[in-house]
Amino acid sequence: MEILKRTVDCGSLRKSDAGKTVVLNGWIHRKRDHGGISFINLRDRYGITQVVAGEDAPEELADTAAELRNEYCIAVEGVVRPRPPEMVNPGMPTGEIEVAAGKILILNKSEVLPFQIDEKTNANEDLRLKYRYLDLRSFAMQDRIRLRSEVSFAVREWMTGQGFYEIETPTFIKSTPEGARDYLVPSRLYPGKFYALPQSPQLYKQILMAGGFDKYFQIARCYRDEDARGDRQPEFTQIDIEMSFVSRDDILAMTEGLFGYVFKKTLGVELPVRFKRLSYEEAVERYGTDKPDLRFDMPLRDFAPWAERGAFQAFKDALAQGEAEKQEAAAKGIAASGGGVKALVVKGGAGYSRKQIEELEAQAKIYKAKGLAWMKVVVPAACGGGGGGAPFLEGGVSKFFADTAGAPADGELARSIIEGLEAEPGDLILMAADSRRSIANTALGAVRSKLGRDLGLVSTAGPSAAGAAGPALTAGRFEFVWIVDFPMFEFNDGENHWEAAHHMFTWPQEKYHAVLESDPGSVKGDLYDLVLNGYELASGSIRIHDPELQKRIFNIVGIGPEEAERKFGFLTGAFKYGAPPHGGIAPGLDRLVMLMAGETSIKEVIAFPKNSFAVSPMDDSPGEVDQKQLDELHLRVERGGE
Ligand code: AMO
Ligand code: AMP
Repeated sequence: MEILKRTVDCGSLRKSDAGKTVVLNGWIHRKRDHGGISFINLRDRYGITQVVAGEDAPEELADTAAELRNEYCIAVEGVVRPRPPEMVNPGMPTGEIEVAAGKILILNKSEVLPFQIDEKTNANEDLRLKYRYLDLRSFAMQDRIRLRSEVSFAVREWMTGQGFYEIETPTFIKSTPEGARDYLVPSRLYPGKFYALPQSPQLYKQILMAGGFDKYFQIARCYRDEDARGDRQPEFTQIDIEMSFVSRDDILAMTEGLFGYVFKKTLGVELPVRFKRLSYEEAVERYGTDKPDLRFDMPLRDFAPWAERGAFQAFKDALAQGEAEKQEAAAKGIAASGGGVKALVVKGGAGYSRKQIEELEAQAKIYKAKGLAWMKVVVPAACGGGGGGAPFLEGGVSKFFADTAGAPADGELARSIIEGLEAEPGDLILMAADSRRSIANTALGAVRSKLGRDLGLVSTAGPSAAGAAGPALTAGRFEFVWIVDFPMFEFNDGENHWEAAHHMFTWPQEKYHAVLESDPGSVKGDLYDLVLNGYELASGSIRIHDPELQKRIFNIVGIGPEEAERKFGFLTGAFKYGAPPHGGIAPGLDRLVMLMAGETSIKEVIAFPKNSFAVSPMDDSPGEVDQKQLDELHLRVERGGE
């Protein structure tokens, strides 16, 4: 086959190149024919160049040009020339020139496309995934995959610069306890035995610390058999990190350094040197979630003091019942938070219609709220909204906050609410009450998130990208926040036992060591999450390196000595030989790149993701295998119902 090797890519020719003879290789993005002249937009991953064929062209060239269709892969030899002034396209880097084709070679034809290759393809997801090679040709996908490559490189550059070694750990391992189901690999040599694919390199990175590598990182593939979501895939990538002889703050500072470097290098965005920090409790009380989106504030406030003074029975009942449940739990030795009434002020929200409020209520109910109460802050109409008359409460449940029954809510109680919530005329107040404080918080937190989206408070355009030097994909705003002081244990109501909130290898904060067994619910772990724009980006902890303490934790979460030895004996064994104190963290690379690219699904930043049903429509995996393979693996498949 004749080859015509490219001398230049499709994104780099400029006016100063006029007169040069060049060879371009690429795909036909668009083709227009005008009275015997063909205008071809030739595309490769660097850009698009306009090729013109037909004008005074030999017959052979004109014939080839006539044959060309979208996505044919071609080689073009031609001469660069300036476009006539009226044809200049200032929106295109190559918009001042075109290449007058002297020769066109069809390298490969294309069938009619299942969807147009476009930056904003509206093809449905399974179609995009089935023809991923076509989808990947779009500039949008190419940009995101480029960003991912640049981010990985910047991570490696920074980590190795700081003295970290990149060390691979096995992907055929003994099960790791990250809390999801394992993917298993049957062993041919040992019938009935299985390797597990790692949910993370957790145990291995800790053993590397015992092995004396005090700064480890790895861009590690992890596998978890759990339901897919926008920010979750069955197979994903972590920037896995572990260090010896460090405190929590050392790990946080290292991570801040890493992200500072990566954002500056790849997006040209300057991050603050230190990220904000919130305790788990502050995050949940103020934002109703341990993954708060701090691109806007809109805090939740405690409404209980006014609920007690007011006359709305649902609020009073929630508090009373919460108190009763708390007493009941205390009798069983479990701490319960009691009831809660929380409020949220929507600035300028007094104009919300009944329907809009009902939509917010529906959102709250998804998170188990019993309702969403509301009232509006207004000023007497005669004052024209301009001051003079004192603001009062109107609509919704406001009547329960009047000083005397039947009167408007314009008395001392209403004033105290308005001032206490820092509300102003024109604002909408939303409230949720529940005998479980966590439900009031979570439900109102979900309402806050919806408001953030609805009111455009989380739009990606923002000030922190101003002056971005790099090839910014998105003029994004990035609000990082550390969530620290998580509870160590959570009580599993269904199974009636304590579980590790993160994993069982987390170091309980020193001051709780004496009460681990007597009051597990009060124990805070030395564990931390890094949250970016409402997504959990990273998780980590200081680990237990003392075998005795590890045994106590196993015991609390109901893992007996025999099970501990069988499952984790290799880890606790390593700790018996002078294992150093250590800790680490693991940012999710897919989520990181997704947020940097301003996307809401990690599939957009993974070359070959699975769909929401854990299937790859392109190669049809998972697929059936031959009977011979099953026999070799000593497996028999029961096909239900066949
Ligand atoms: P964790 O389980 O919290 O911690 O995971 C750390 C980070 O990995 C990313 N992540 C995922 N990304 C895409 N799809 C998934 N299914 C998925 N699951 C997790 C998230 C998350 O914050 N070994 C510990 C870390 C440590 O303690 O050092 C761990 O894996 O961004
Ligand atoms: P009801 O008294 O049930 O008619 O409810 C009046 C209003 O209060 C409705 O808007 C409900 O959504 C709301 N509401 C009822 N119970 C609660 C609750 N526990 N928390 C917040 N709002 C509630």
